[in-house]
Amino acid sequence: MQLPPFKLEEFWKKYEFTAPHLFCSSDAESWKLQEILALADSEALALWENLSLGYTESPGYPLLRQEIAQLYSQIDQKQVLTFAGAEEGIYCTMRTLLEPGDHVIVIEPCYQSLLSLPQTFGADVTSVMLDSKKQWRLELEEVEKAFRPNTKLLILNFPHNPTGTVMGKEVLEGLVKLAKQRGTYIFCDEVYRFLEIDETKRLPSLADVYERGISLNVMTKAFGLAGLRIGWLATRDVDFLQRVGSYKLYTSICNSAPSEILALIALRAKETILKRNREVMLHNLNLLHAFMDRYQGVLSWVPPQSGTMAVIQLLLPIPVEQFAEDLVEKKGVLIMPGGVFDLPGNYFRLGFGKKNMSEVLELFEQYLIEVIR
Ligand SMILES: Cc1ncc(COP(=O)(O)O)c(C=O)c1O
Repeated sequence: MQLPPFKLEEFWKKYEFTAPHLFCSSDAESWKLQEILALADSEALALWENLSLGYTESPGYPLLRQEIAQLYSQIDQKQVLTFAGAEEGIYCTMRTLLEPGDHVIVIEPCYQSLLSLPQTFGADVTSVMLDSKKQWRLELEEVEKAFRPNTKLLILNFPHNPTGTVMGKEVLEGLVKLAKQRGTYIFCDEVYRFLEIDETKRLPSLADVYERGISLNVMTKAFGLAGLRIGWLATRDVDFLQRVGSYKLYTSICNSAPSEILALIALRAKETILKRNREVMLHNLNLLHAFMDRYQGVLSWVPPQSGTMAVIQLLLPIPVEQFAEDLVEKKGVLIMPGGVFDLPGNYFRLGFGKKNMSEVLELFEQYLIEVIR
């Protein structure tokens, strides 16, 4: 079994720690260890100070799973399984659920492992493409057409990377109905949940609305704690949970002990953490709106409905890869060409979750002025 190169992660491997100014990150502003510890209640602080650095419980530290379960309405601690980041959750799910020949529906463009893993494991994959002309909206009829009587799995990612779109509630309900009729699992990558710009547009988690719904989330994105590498699956499907838990014994076995306690502290302080991260994101989005207004005819976008990303179309007669290479060389500013997502057309991804975005935007604007002059 040969996995194809993971284009997005290869891109990060090349640039993340060499490019001076990242302008395409998908995570919120990161927190420092001291800041997280300052948010700890006395119980969690004692757990941190007396932490033994041995193995941890494979499904995840019980208090952490209990805290994660609070993010859902129908999920209890036993229905949560933790992983090393979201990526391990994706890998173990696809490995556990899919056999060669299984029919799977994937929405594209997407975070590559959501597509490449089912393909590599021999699934028969039908892609549904989001279209900028339809505001990158997922349309129920498009997915309905892709369904077969024996569709095993529908893979979703909303809020969506890279377009920042949010699925409509009626689409979600329609999809659950279609899946229910066929016994199809729905895996929903919800790693950008809590970053919806209009919080009333936040969808319920799949795990809360469908017995065969599997919700994926992580400390990385909305919480700005990528370095913890703590992600999780939540589902009411006991059989799946048991099987995926057995699979994890072949991958990470258990989580890092310090990360579990830090994730517990952060989730107990989630209002404070999300408030700061959302403030940064919303402030930056205002700056981006004004910027996009200044460059109509040069750049265009479908304004995102969630953080922390947007897809921008470069309207200049320059291939976006060349534009991006030159930009990082001359100004040190990194944007992500759409080719990383196999997105046809002259698109790139911007990230607006970081505190220094206004300075990076200034450098980007200087470059743009030089190019169009
Ligand atoms: C949609 C989506 N799912 C999963 C991941 C992986 O997250 P993590 O780095 O926490 O494993 C990412 C990371 O960019 C992502 O965008």
